[in-house]
Amino acid sequence: MKGDFTELFSLAGRTVLVTGASSGIGAHLARVAGCAGANVVLAARRVERLEQVAKDIEWEGSRALPVALDVTERASVEAAFDAAEAHFGVVDVVLNNAGIGSGQRPLEITEDEWRMMLSTNLDGVWRVAQCAAQRLARAERPGSIVNIASMLGLRVGTGYSHYCAAKAGVVQLTKSLALELARYHIRVNAIAPGYFKTEMTDGYFDGDKGQAYIRDAVPMRRLGELEELEGPFLLLASEAGAYMTGAVLAVDGGQLVGSL
Ligand code: NAI
Repeated sequence: MKGDFTELFSLAGRTVLVTGASSGIGAHLARVAGCAGANVVLAARRVERLEQVAKDIEWEGSRALPVALDVTERASVEAAFDAAEAHFGVVDVVLNNAGIGSGQRPLEITEDEWRMMLSTNLDGVWRVAQCAAQRLARAERPGSIVNIASMLGLRVGTGYSHYCAAKAGVVQLTKSLALELARYHIRVNAIAPGYFKTEMTDGYFDGDKGQAYIRDAVPMRRLGELEELEGPFLLLASEAGAYMTGAVLAVDGGQLVGSL
């Protein structure tokens, strides 16, 4: 036992690419990767919104590169990885976080809404993971892919059939890729968050309905704080999780074990 657990969870010398790094969970965990010593590639459609996150990371003494990325476009994903490689070298760790989350009743979901949901939340995760894995395998480097799934990929919620289907796909994709990429020394794990206050959930939990929901459905009777995703992310991204692959970590205040 070394006794230095900072080193165990360190990302020093690694390049970490975060999708959807312009807000919410992605922006927060990108800063965390920087604090853990990584070179951070901040990837999102709204590049101008990445500048502040980049400044924060550089202020902490790490390097950051904002790049444009739309996870629904293959060419955009390849271009983001090309830019990352030109700047830092091969991407070692991916946080596959970009996602959308608007609710819709099942009888009213349009073809376009369904396609957009699956295209972003499932196809996008696959596309980014495959691109990262191809490049790692070619370079014969080990790597870690962390997918942000959801507790709605493990159970279901009203008004979210398209979201639940996409996130369940992320859970299965995580396990399948873990199985197949182990031979390349690439680990693939997922985090399944419960509810955290971000742009995606903004507003709802401040109202009476949202407050009642938290009281009745979340055993810990509160929303998650972004800081509470730091440990699970660093565990999966760093050597601390060296023997973990195919795991889906629930970070949900106990919601998935709520009484039926
Ligand atoms: P957010 O809306 O703040 O962040 C989502 C990010 O993804 C944004 O930066 C957005 O621009 C980006 N994005 C969306 N479509 C994209 C595309 N085509 N290409 C590139 N980037 C794109 O929301 P939040 O909450 O931070 O969500 C992050 C992830 O966490 C999502 O995958 C979401 O499904 C998941 N999640 C969030 C929960 C919550 O309670 N906030 C609960 C469970 C899962």
